[in-house]
Amino acid sequence: MRPRRALLYVPGTSLKMMTKAAGLDVDSVCLDLEDAVALAQKEEARRLVAQALAELDFGMTERCVRINEAGSELARADLEAVLPLRPDAIILPKVASPDALRWADALLLEAETAQGWPIGGIALIALIETAMGVVRLTDIAGATPRLQALAFGAEDLMADVGGKRTPSNREVAYPRSAVAITAAAFGLQALDQVFVAYKDLDGFRAEAEEAAILGYQGKQAIHPSQAQVAQEVFTPSDEEIAHARRVLEAMRKAEARGEGVFALDGKMVDGPMIKAAQRILTRAGIEFSS
Ligand code: COA
Ligand code: MG
Repeated sequence: MRPRRALLYVPGTSLKMMTKAAGLDVDSVCLDLEDAVALAQKEEARRLVAQALAELDFGMTERCVRINEAGSELARADLEAVLPLRPDAIILPKVASPDALRWADALLLEAETAQGWPIGGIALIALIETAMGVVRLTDIAGATPRLQALAFGAEDLMADVGGKRTPSNREVAYPRSAVAITAAAFGLQALDQVFVAYKDLDGFRAEAEEAAILGYQGKQAIHPSQAQVAQEVFTPSDEEIAHARRVLEAMRKAEARGEGVFALDGKMVDGPMIKAAQRILTRAGIEFSS
């Protein structure tokens, strides 16, 4: 699966911002037809997003489109407008049941079949941002092999729950963790919540680091500077890579001695630390033999 360290939202109404996004060195961009677009502008946004997909060179960046809620007339028109331009992924907002994914899956399959494109080539990403989405996480995560990532939406979730957003994030501790754990259980990526104070890059970085600790592999972003920080945070650092190499080296020596558990720098190392070290090298694109 391709890395999605940063997923940058760009309003589908702004050809200027979409042009800017195309030139950035970011894993994924999301051309938005949903919350960033007022109802009266939906049609114009569809036209502009189709134009952007047709004319702009996004280089290695993944071209995602966020459509309106699955099953709606808006979403149907969104897909009609963008699917002929073969986006890399479709992002579904407010996913509350596996039916939402199956609805999109069927339409993507239809387009792929009609166009002669590889079946399953267009990925799906589900936003978990409603109370029902959290409650039905496991059904949603297993809905279709086309699903590659779960993205967590804190703002919409708390609006749905009737709670309050706070800088502490304590109100989302449970669902934010649940998304990371469910994603891991189903072999999916987990993409962390949006940080709305886009001028506070230190705050964004701290939240991204916290997400990495929880097991997230990437973060949604709303500004190019946030995307750049997310790319950094979710790339293993030189120190992390060096430490992972030392752990695996020490493991080889321990194995040669017939020991499964050993000490390194005054700390016990066994199975889970070895798995974590292997994961870091995989994320860094480094081969290792075990
Ligand atoms: N994608 C691409 N380019 C963006 C961008 C984005 N999400 N956000 C800002 N830029 C561009 C600006 O156009 C500007 O370009 P320029 O220097 O060529 O003029 C540059 O980056 C600097 O932007 P800045 O002036 O700091 O911010 P702004 O006031 O123009 O925009 C927001 C602030 C919040 C309105 C804007 O970042 C935005 O619309 N973000 C996405 C919101 C969204 O999609 N929300 C829905 C999903 S949660
Ligand atoms: Mg939203």
